[in-house]
Amino acid sequence: MPVAVVVGAQWGDEGKGKVVDLLTENADVVARWAGGANAGHTLVVNGQKYITHLMPSGVLRPQVTCVVGEGMVIDPKVLVEEIRAFRDVGLLSDSSKLIVSRRAHMTMPHHRILDGLREQGPAAVGSTKRGIGPTYESKAARTGLRIDDLYRPDRFRKRLEANMQLLAPVLAEAKDQLPSIEDVMKDYLALAEEIAPYVGDASRFINEQISAGKNVLLEGAQGVLLDIDHGTYPFVTSSSTTAGGACAALGIGPTKISTVIGIVKAYATRVGMGPFPTELKEAVGAQIREAGAEFGSTTGRPRRCGWLDIPALRLAIRLSGIESLALTKLDVLSGMKTVKVCVAYKLRGKVLEEMPVDPEDLEEVEPVFEEHPGWTETNSKGGLEGLPETSRRYLDRVSELAGVPLSLISVGPDRDQTIIKGHPFE
Ligand code: GDP
Ligand code: IMO
Ligand code: MG
Repeated sequence: MPVAVVVGAQWGDEGKGKVVDLLTENADVVARWAGGANAGHTLVVNGQKYITHLMPSGVLRPQVTCVVGEGMVIDPKVLVEEIRAFRDVGLLSDSSKLIVSRRAHMTMPHHRILDGLREQGPAAVGSTKRGIGPTYESKAARTGLRIDDLYRPDRFRKRLEANMQLLAPVLAEAKDQLPSIEDVMKDYLALAEEIAPYVGDASRFINEQISAGKNVLLEGAQGVLLDIDHGTYPFVTSSSTTAGGACAALGIGPTKISTVIGIVKAYATRVGMGPFPTELKEAVGAQIREAGAEFGSTTGRPRRCGWLDIPALRLAIRLSGIESLALTKLDVLSGMKTVKVCVAYKLRGKVLEEMPVDPEDLEEVEPVFEEHPGWTETNSKGGLEGLPETSRRYLDRVSELAGVPLSLISVGPDRDQTIIKGHPFE
């Protein structure tokens, strides 16, 4: 009964989309639980590129049932756009292949406006401005609207009024941008019709599939270091991005999880604000950004780039119980004379093996680097043995420092640019 959880082991954009698409050749269910349209997961098949924001990355596999699960926050407009786009290319023609949780919360237009307003003030974190924080705040304040409310117009109106009333003081300065209750209802109830065939009880479905011995993959969004409780607060997202978050959000008992796989880039990136000890602000960072096309899949923002940070990776491994790593973008470092990896931090005279999450400590830490000889080119044709020896030594060292095996090496965005050493469904 393999139930695999896949999480990003850094600050997001590790290549979760690519790896999940690849691993789901034999999967029955792929479910997402964290965040919403702040995510951008890229899938590339034979050069054709797809970016998903809400849709799980199993969507290209016809046998997979995709689950947009409890715990997510859904912008119905984005969801409908994605459903239409995938239907246009012949996918999701069977409506039973997508389940949208009736208990997932909805991002409303005023949540997006509020996110934008915040980003102009002292509470800015460099969010994606997709309304994610304000939607989770409404959920916690118990005035949020859920997918179910789309099908009970009286309740929808009451909850919308109550939620907007709660937020009225902060929304006052955006009065001119706020749509009327009538307009919101009209737009959302029209979208409700298109979503209706997919609405269901996600948790029940997944548990039934697990009991039936199906292959289930739970796809994380963002990265463990952006977790609301355990990340670099306040520079985090608003949901639980650790592997345990999958159980809580989707209503799955922890005893059902067979393994946790972490996705890690061969270097590090971060979008938005917050401490980033190995960041390369000069030419090398720009070189990695160009070579790795490190521009946000959701916002197009340039991603901050730096060397691989082992203390940060160790924290992610501990927080999520990661048992193996899929390492992506090894090819991006090709052509560099030497490649550095941060093996520890120094903080006020002490050596730290694991990243401290307090942002002030983290601003102060001094990374301790190891330097490795570079490599010229990578490809997947000759398997692991076909990789340049220096790159293999780099991989061995990363695995040794992280304390977990590497189960997959990715050397390009396409499916076949991958070397698989261990598969969760085999
Ligand atoms: P996600 O949010 O974790 O799914 O990652 P994103 O899709 O936001 O960003 C990862 C980017 O790297 C995408 O453009 C992928 O197509 C690309 N990518 C994934 N794996 C590799 C790889 O091994 N090499 C290269 N060059 N690109 C990759
Ligand atoms: P995927 O799933 C990278 C970051 C934002 C910002 C912080 C808070 O594609 O890896 P939010 O909009 O969530 O309130 O923003 O979190 N962030 C991501 N960074 N990849 C993501 O998703 C992200 N989702 C949110 O840049 O720093
Ligand atoms: Mg992304």
